[in-house]
Amino acid sequence: MTPEPLTGEGADENWWRQAVVYQVYPRSFVDSDGDGLGDLRGIIARVPYLSSLGVDAIWLSPFYPSALADGGYDVDHYREVDPRLGTLDDFDDLVRALHEAGIRIFVDIVPNHSSNRHEWFQAALAAAPGSPERDRYHFRDGRGEHGELPPNDWPSHFGPSAWTRTTNPDGTPGQWYLHLFAPEQPDFNWDNQEVHDDFLHTLRFWSDRGVDGFRVDVAHALKKDMSEPYSPVPSIGIMSDYPIDGSHPLFDRDDVYEVYRAWRAVFDEYDPPRVAVAEATVPVERRVNYATRETLGQAFNFDLLGTPWRASAFRATIAHSLELAQSTGSSSTWTLSNHDIIRHASRYGLPEGTDLERWLLSNGTEPQGDAALGLRRARAATMLLLALPGSVYLYQGEELGLPEVADLPTEAIQDPIWIRDGGARKGRDGCRVPLPWQHDAPSFGFTTGTPHLPMPAWFAAYAADLQDGAAGSTLELYRSALSTRRRLQTAETLTWVELGDDVVAFTRDNGWLCIMNVGAEPITLPEGELVLASEAVTDGILPGDSTAWLRARP
Ligand code: GLC
Repeated sequence: MTPEPLTGEGADENWWRQAVVYQVYPRSFVDSDGDGLGDLRGIIARVPYLSSLGVDAIWLSPFYPSALADGGYDVDHYREVDPRLGTLDDFDDLVRALHEAGIRIFVDIVPNHSSNRHEWFQAALAAAPGSPERDRYHFRDGRGEHGELPPNDWPSHFGPSAWTRTTNPDGTPGQWYLHLFAPEQPDFNWDNQEVHDDFLHTLRFWSDRGVDGFRVDVAHALKKDMSEPYSPVPSIGIMSDYPIDGSHPLFDRDDVYEVYRAWRAVFDEYDPPRVAVAEATVPVERRVNYATRETLGQAFNFDLLGTPWRASAFRATIAHSLELAQSTGSSSTWTLSNHDIIRHASRYGLPEGTDLERWLLSNGTEPQGDAALGLRRARAATMLLLALPGSVYLYQGEELGLPEVADLPTEAIQDPIWIRDGGARKGRDGCRVPLPWQHDAPSFGFTTGTPHLPMPAWFAAYAADLQDGAAGSTLELYRSALSTRRRLQTAETLTWVELGDDVVAFTRDNGWLCIMNVGAEPITLPEGELVLASEAVTDGILPGDSTAWLRARP
């Protein structure tokens, strides 16, 4: 069979609608040169692994030059590769290798802020207040007699204040600048035309190199109301507190969509058009605005992350998500893990209502959690996701059933949340520990050097080489599920099937039936050919906390 062309004539421009996208967090994937940081050559070497997993695309988290003040989301230069990760030639080789394997690539675009090492920010620091250089960011005079107080009390996501004071070239204290994240991440002023134009340049730069899509970081924060008197911002990062009329001074303002209309025009210069997915943590009703054909086309849907392990809750979340996606002509996205959240194999092993921040602070001991139950539920939930209409975003390592590393020694922690919040939150490093490839190699085959985050000894049991070809392993379950999905994927609709209070069940229009038993008691499967199950099925009995896929017998 000739593979479908990815670009040009005959290429499917709807490829993204039901794609399985695998997130590569490059510094923790594979290290090819022994410096302890994963790199592009490492990813190239694992293209066969990605192929055998059966993903349609990868999403590559930032690989740009960066001091890593925030895991690479502090970008020094948007059109270069971090020299520790490789070169632009390596990047081209990666795109080629992926495309030859029929895998597309999304790159992460970080438009809300640059790093403080970006040449524009350095130029701004060297320039005078009110200069064009400073206008690319948000510089303001401080309050108080000597400008010693921040311009307002807006908080940063990473705590505490969103403002940091600068030092003038002559050593005297200067103006303040806005950063919704770490001080090393100054926010761009999106009312500045140069900022706008530079990002269009960046989108074309990567699109010209063959990139198929973009994941847009903090897509909802670009436009801000910086007029005085400043509007109050009581909390940050708590979506349910955001107004739904576009009136928040910092997030999800109506004029942010104009930015993406201009991006859409760039995407449409290509054949097939480049695609995008928004990371917009906004109230669900507003998410749709990022996912229209005129804006970014698709948006992450994090609703399943907070869905309790109950059939009615799953059904309600799924139905609502599908409805929202359909209202814009987009397809829904589904995800259970990424580089910002505790891995779902661990979350599902914790009692409902566990305070996850406190659990991390206790090094994963309070409560202890049930690892076997967590993995079992994670496998079941993943099979549910993979049967749903829409696209699924997987995070590297979940195909190995990796749990969170909850007990990282505090001296190893890199996440700015830990430092900025004075140790009140441990942050996200526990899901960013490098992947174990070989159970008996130093650093489990991730690197010949010292991994940038320590890898615990118990990672050996999850190593890819032990799971490769092993019946019932999580890796083999993912492989089978992805290839089966590819074969059975059909129209973007589902029909609910009523099989009891503890069961989430639906069919797709070709008779593909997905049954997730969220109860602890086994259930009897209905008539049909068993295609795949997350746990062993004997005599037509599906155990608790597991999922089966069936097909109607011809
Ligand atoms: C996004 C990223 C996160 C990063 C933040 C600031 O939420 O996913 O990792 O810290 O943006 O760029």
